[in-house]
Formats: sequence, C-alpha cells, structure tokens
Amino acid sequence: MKTSRISGFYRKPVEERKELILDMMELNGGERSAFFPTEPLELEIADHMVENVVGTFPLPLGVGLNFLINDKEYAVPMAIEEASVIASASHIAKIVRDAGGFKASSGERLMIGQIQVVGCPDFEEAKAAVLNEKSELIEICNDAYPSLIQRGGGVRDLDVRILNEHEDSDYSKMLIVHIYADTCDAMGANMINTMAEAAAPRVELLTKGKVYLRILSNYAVKSLARATCIIPPSLLKTGDFDGEAVRDGVIHAYEFAASDPFRAVTHNKGIMNGIDPVVIATGNDWRAVEAGAHAYAARSGQYSSMSVWSKDEAGNLVGELELPMSIGTVGGATRVHPMAQMALKMLDIKSASELAQVIVSVGLAQNLGALKALATDGIQKGHMALHARSVAVAAGATGELIEIIAEKMIETKEIRSGKAKELVEEYTL
Ligand code: MEV
Repeated sequence: MKTSRISGFYRKPVEERKELILDMMELNGGERSAFFPTEPLELEIADHMVENVVGTFPLPLGVGLNFLINDKEYAVPMAIEEASVIASASHIAKIVRDAGGFKASSGERLMIGQIQVVGCPDFEEAKAAVLNEKSELIEICNDAYPSLIQRGGGVRDLDVRILNEHEDSDYSKMLIVHIYADTCDAMGANMINTMAEAAAPRVELLTKGKVYLRILSNYAVKSLARATCIIPPSLLKTGDFDGEAVRDGVIHAYEFAASDPFRAVTHNKGIMNGIDPVVIATGNDWRAVEAGAHAYAARSGQYSSMSVWSKDEAGNLVGELELPMSIGTVGGATRVHPMAQMALKMLDIKSASELAQVIVSVGLAQNLGALKALATDGIQKGHMALHARSVAVAAGATGELIEIIAEKMIETKEIRSGKAKELVEEYTL
C-alpha cells in the first residue's frame, strides 16, 4: 500500500479519484477493473437481505485520506450524507500523521450473551449450581456452533449475576447468566443467540427457575478498541490562532463535554460522525455500535465524553478514545453487500480487531476536527463553503465554475440560489 497522503484529491473528478485509490492500493489489471462494483446493490441481493423490499437507498461513499495508524497507511471508506465530515477527518488525519500517526490497540475480543432466569426458589443456590456446571454449560454452547470451534473461537467463560435480590416484586428478581465467546472475525450476534438458546434448558434445570430472554448484549465491554494521538502545538496552528491556543481550546471543549451531558451528547455525536460511516461502509450494524458506545460513555453513572483530551509535560495535545466495538469482517451484510466487500478490500485489514482500531482512530480524528473548528473559527465557516458549493451545483454550475461561484457567493455573503443562478448566467454567457 502506497501513502494515503494524496494531495488535491478532492479537486479531482470522481473517475480520477477512483484511479488514485487503485494506484494507492497498487492494484493492477483485472484487480483494478473489478474493484469498484458496477452496481452498488442489486435489487435481487437487497430482496434477500430484508423484507418487503421496494428499492435501495444509496448514500455518498467518500474516502478518508491521510490515515496512518500503527505505522500502516489506510484509505478509509466512509458512507455518510453529511457534508464536511470526510474533509474534516482527512484534515485531522494529516495533522496526526505529521505527528507520527495514531496508535491503536485492542485486547481480547469476546462477545457477551445473556440468559435471564426468573422465579428461582433460591437465587444464591441457583447461582452456585450454574457456576458448578460451568464447563458443561460452556460445552453445550460450543456444541451448538461447531464451526466456530473449528475456526479457533468459542465460549471462553461464563458467569452469573443476581439482580434485585432484595426487592419484593418477583418480576424484578432475576438471575442473569453471561456467556463470553470469542466469535473470531464475526460480529457474532447469531452465534451468541444460538448458544444462549442452546444453554437455556440446562440453565432452567440447574436454577429451578424459568428462562425468558436469551440474547446478545450490545454492551460489548469485552471488545474494547483504543486509539491515541499526541500532537505538538506547532501542528495545530490555524489562521489567527497559534497552536497553544488551539490545544487549550480543545481541552476546554473536552472538559465541557466531560462535565455536562447536554454538551457530551453533541460532542459524542461528532465522534460517531466518524465512526458510523466506516461501520456502515463495511456492512456492520451501526445501531449496535451506537448503543454500546453511548452506554460506555455513561459507565461512571453520568453520561460523559467518550474521548479524553489533555496536555502532556511537553505541552503536546494528547487525545484518547476507547469504545466497545461490536463489529465483524465476515458474515452478515459484509458477506453479501458488494460495497461492503469493496470497503473491506480498500481498508486492506486482516482482522475484526484491526477494523475496530481503524474505526476508533477515525472517531478520534473526527472529534478533534469538530473541537478544533469549534474552539477557533466556529464550524459555520467550513460548512458555508460546502453549502455554497451545493447551492452552486443546484443552480446549474458544473466543473470549475462550482468553485468560482461558491467563492463569489461567500465573498459577497449571499449564499442563495437566486444569486447562484445570476452568477451561472453571468459566467456562461
Ligand atoms: C455536527 O454533525 C457535529 C458537531 O456538532 C460535533 C461537536 O459539536 O463536537 C460539530
């Protein structure tokens, strides 16, 4: 893979951008011509994915550039409808690469399944009985999904929690069995659900209670991925703001989000602006990732910032983001969706852990992009430039004229379709 630092990419026509990505990936011949699907999602495939299909719903797919993560180059596919997001991620990725790139890591990758048991005559006895038969229950789970064992995965552990033991209502007292499974490179929802359902009858016998729910938990705290970056202030300088001022503004913005849920929600939305587009482009379940990420942001008991920004002893800006990442690189929509397959090829990743690390790095970049803009010029300046371009396109501008007309409208502070039409006529006479 060649460098993902491709200057002037955004100014090129779409077909040329595609060629540049293929060049970056060092593809040749047949690999090149087969890389970008001719049809993003055929109706026939869509019809097998969900029910009552009447069409498909395309989103723009852009590429986040300049990403250097653990010394590896990445072109990051991002599917999103919101303007500025991809430009901002690429802008920050460039700053971070100049500072040495993102460092990312992930530990164990275990998905969690839950079995809910109610009406146990004695909850402590029931808990002891389940723990006593741990190995047998793990075996039942593993027998329910033999192909996972063949691939080196399977249930690694099991534990039990008792909820609301001292409450009066029999509805609220319950015993929860957690199973922890290595689902290899799959997100693993089906595997976990199958295993939980398979173990439930034995759990009922052991606990003398009644099993209700048997389902994956999207609070994937045993599948955490982390990204960090350390940026010298000299790289943060922007317009009239020196690097130290930008750094301090970012830290103040973080402290605001860390202490105030009203701000934290928006701050975290900015992080998910980076995360969701990659999750979507790779065919993963973005609702699962969203739910887990927001729950993790509230793990202290108060909903807070997902990221942490601080200053180290040398005065560098230090950013950190750790989130649960229930994603996969095999199975589900990643297997059938041609664009998801293409996105995974573009990322050139070897495992779900690696994908998780890329995703949190993009989230951290996106967060810094928003905070840097908010703590300096405000975000409207950048948004207005993009808005002006789309007003120019809607008024009929094409090619180089789009930029010229957009700039004219910004200059005269008249970003509206009437003005754009006037300018189109003026320039095309
Ligand atoms: C807009 O989509 C995202 C931001 O509001 C994030 C933030 O406020 O940090 C700019």
